[in-house]
Amino acid sequence: MAKYERHLFVCTNQRPEGSPRPSCNPDGKAELHRALNLAVAEAGLKDRVRVNKSGCLDQCEHAANVVVYPEAVWYGNVQLADVPEIVQSHLVEGRPVARLELAEACIHTASCPHKPAKS
Ligand code: FES
Ligand SMILES: [Zn+2]
Repeated sequence: MAKYERHLFVCTNQRPEGSPRPSCNPDGKAELHRALNLAVAEAGLKDRVRVNKSGCLDQCEHAANVVVYPEAVWYGNVQLADVPEIVQSHLVEGRPVARLELAEACIHTASCPHKPAKS
């Protein structure tokens, strides 16, 4: 089998209600992962693109989060309705969906204005 051209990591971490941080999969159904996986298959990309479930990516305040490698494109606040555009624009046409990309200041930085301040 040929190597995958891209890997998507879809955070499916679930936290109980009332947790101090939100989570990407609060109802535990992992619907975003399922929808991306299905859309990748429907686009005929199953042999080239792998859609993996991921644990917490530490971007919880931007839930739901998806990261695409090898480009290291981080998508945040991803909704089920965004799936067709991610697949068509990014995975088929090679154009990341700019409107969903997390700001540089948000990715693994203490400066992200959405994260609670560390005490
Ligand atoms: S729960 Fe998804 S990034 Fe933390
Ligand atoms: Zn942020």
